Amino acid sequence: MRPPGPVRDLDWGPAEARELTGEMLDLWAELMQRMPELPVAPAAGAAEMAAEMDLPIPAQPLPPAEIGRLLRPLVFDQSTLCGHPGFLAYISGSGTIPGAAADLLAAGLNPNVGGWSLSGGATELELHLMRWIAARFGLPEGASGLMTSGGATSNFTALKAARDAHAPGNVRADGVDGMLLVLYASEEAHATIAEAADMLGLGERAVRSIPTDDGFRMRVDELERALADDLAAGMRPFCVVATAGTTATGAIDPLPAVADTCARHNLWLHIDAAYGGAAAFAPDLRHLLDGIERADTISFDPHKWLYTPQSSACLLARDPGRLRAAFSIDAAYVREDAELSGRGINIGELGPQWSRAFIALKVWMSLAAHGTDAYARRIAHDVELARYLDERVREHADLEPTCPVTLSIACFRYAPAGIDDATLDALNERLMIEIRRDGRTCPSNAVLRGRYSLRACFVNHRTEADVVDALVEATVTLGSALAAAHS
Ligand SMILES: Cc1ncc(COP(=O)(O)O)c(C=O)c1O
Repeated sequence: MRPPGPVRDLDWGPAEARELTGEMLDLWAELMQRMPELPVAPAAGAAEMAAEMDLPIPAQPLPPAEIGRLLRPLVFDQSTLCGHPGFLAYISGSGTIPGAAADLLAAGLNPNVGGWSLSGGATELELHLMRWIAARFGLPEGASGLMTSGGATSNFTALKAARDAHAPGNVRADGVDGMLLVLYASEEAHATIAEAADMLGLGERAVRSIPTDDGFRMRVDELERALADDLAAGMRPFCVVATAGTTATGAIDPLPAVADTCARHNLWLHIDAAYGGAAAFAPDLRHLLDGIERADTISFDPHKWLYTPQSSACLLARDPGRLRAAFSIDAAYVREDAELSGRGINIGELGPQWSRAFIALKVWMSLAAHGTDAYARRIAHDVELARYLDERVREHADLEPTCPVTLSIACFRYAPAGIDDATLDALNERLMIEIRRDGRTCPSNAVLRGRYSLRACFVNHRTEADVVDALVEATVTLGSALAAAHS
């Protein structure tokens, strides 16, 4: 057989790369410039958007300028702009500019950060960043971890390590059948804790939901009571999940007291600091996380309050050996004598993913390009914005705060006198949609003690006080119109 001839269609060089990325750069720059004037969220529904996004998938190449032209509706009309100054919904960071540049380089370099041999430098940078972040939380020398796709994966990874460390026998081989493993998290913990219990074969009911106090923090007396009940019933408690920055209100569970309980009962302490962990980067807020240094594992999402682009999260472990014990795989096709090859750690053996992107680059590049002092100032500023909103709410007779401000989340509702709670729930639910349609700001909601609240979360480096004023103005104007229509 003659050697096959070359097929070079896909083999672009720097000139083609520059031409196409130039088109993308132009779109990105235009987006940055126009973003404040664009609506935060598109008005179109799913069917209309699907029709717009029915882009051609041609047999013959499209020129870069045509690709740029085709993408204009996606960029300027059909996207919710999480980086828009008025975006205040959920907990979705605004996306740093250096982080986006890093993603281009990461994809261009294209290491596979599951195996050291496929990614040496990228692996070592990721581990360096993990050790550095672990030290911000006060974890001891030797603590490290891995980047993940998000808090959901971090929580699953942590609970798998906890389960494997505490279950009797060889749970990885034999499964959890009949083990009666149970864990504890507050009623305000993120839904991904129950999801992880499901994926681990424990079942969602294995997560004991612990009541919270007036500030939506876990009640440690209730935790102790649930533990005592389970032990008396022959169950096998193995882990407590404390949340440092709950999704709804930003509450921080009493970490030192929860850590004491874990120490007394020999339980794994996982702290879900996916959102609130960023407080460790602002010296004036750091004390709020006291006790986090006693965790076995910590979930922390830079793509939330370090503003880095989706997706960039991490899981940190006091003893990374526990992660390896839970996720190592001995497959013949990746066996390699580390002594002979000189390879380092395969990060794919610290978590559930094998092939992995170079996520760490966008976090490191954001920190490097802005500096940690700028981060400290901006994170503290976000807390000030939440407090400012809370103050504006308290000043207005028709508005009512519905939770204390701990971090950068404020919750409130439109509540003029003389309207019953059930009607206010329906009104505020409708009001959230109307505020979004107004286009200047985009809040989300929280249901607190059964009552529907509006919720603003400040994890956006472009948001300033004028956005808070616009939100208050829209709430009062649109709220009074809805109340009038109802009466
Ligand atoms: C406290 C907490 N944990 C976990 C998650 C899940 O994170 P992700 O969406 O990055 O998977 C969230 C998301 O908001 C969260 O607020």
